[in-house]
Amino acid sequence: MNMDKTREKDVNKTMEMDIANVLLTGEAIKRRIAELGEEITQDYQGSELLVLGILKGAVLFMADLIREIKLPLTFDFMAVSSYGASTYSSGVVRILKDVERSVEGVHILIVEDIVDTGLTLKYLKENLSRRNPESVKVVTLLDKPGRRKVDMIPDYNGFAIPDEFVVGYGLDFNQKFRNLPYIGVLKPEAYES
Ligand code: IMP
Ligand code: MG
Repeated sequence: MNMDKTREKDVNKTMEMDIANVLLTGEAIKRRIAELGEEITQDYQGSELLVLGILKGAVLFMADLIREIKLPLTFDFMAVSSYGASTYSSGVVRILKDVERSVEGVHILIVEDIVDTGLTLKYLKENLSRRNPESVKVVTLLDKPGRRKVDMIPDYNGFAIPDEFVVGYGLDFNQKFRNLPYIGVLKPEAYES
């Protein structure tokens, strides 16, 4: 089948045009993920590891990370959603999709795209801990420590970033930009349209 090159270019151009600047290139992300994978590989020697990705933002990061973890492992996903505006005060999140198996006695490594207020991960860690796993740790690609509202220190962190809204490499704005192969800062105009 012939690709419509002109159309493909236009679509890419539109997405790129909404990006003010590239914060992390695909290459930088790839290098950092290799380091994280090595660290995790060392820390979990001899353990039964369940890698638990949080949909949808963590999908790209997780796909790359698990290929850098040189251990036998299984993976699963959870999907969560915030309870509307009350989330910021209560930190209650709703589980839309849960793990498919018991996590009793298992080492859980939660994979997130970004830790912002920390409310989502705090809730998830507490929820999972009640199911008697062997351990629950967190790896996040990005961390905005300046935005934290609760105590939440990721066990592994790719990059600490400033308080700017970023998209790409899984992260979205209105469900878009997830497929950008890098992390970029959105132009203010993009929020307004
Ligand atoms: P929190 O740590 O509970 O505040 O929520 C983290 C979630 O907020 C992430 O999983 C993202 O879905 C979303 N989020 C926070 N900051 C950003 C950002 O800069 N870009 C895209 N999504 C973000
Ligand atoms: Mg998310």
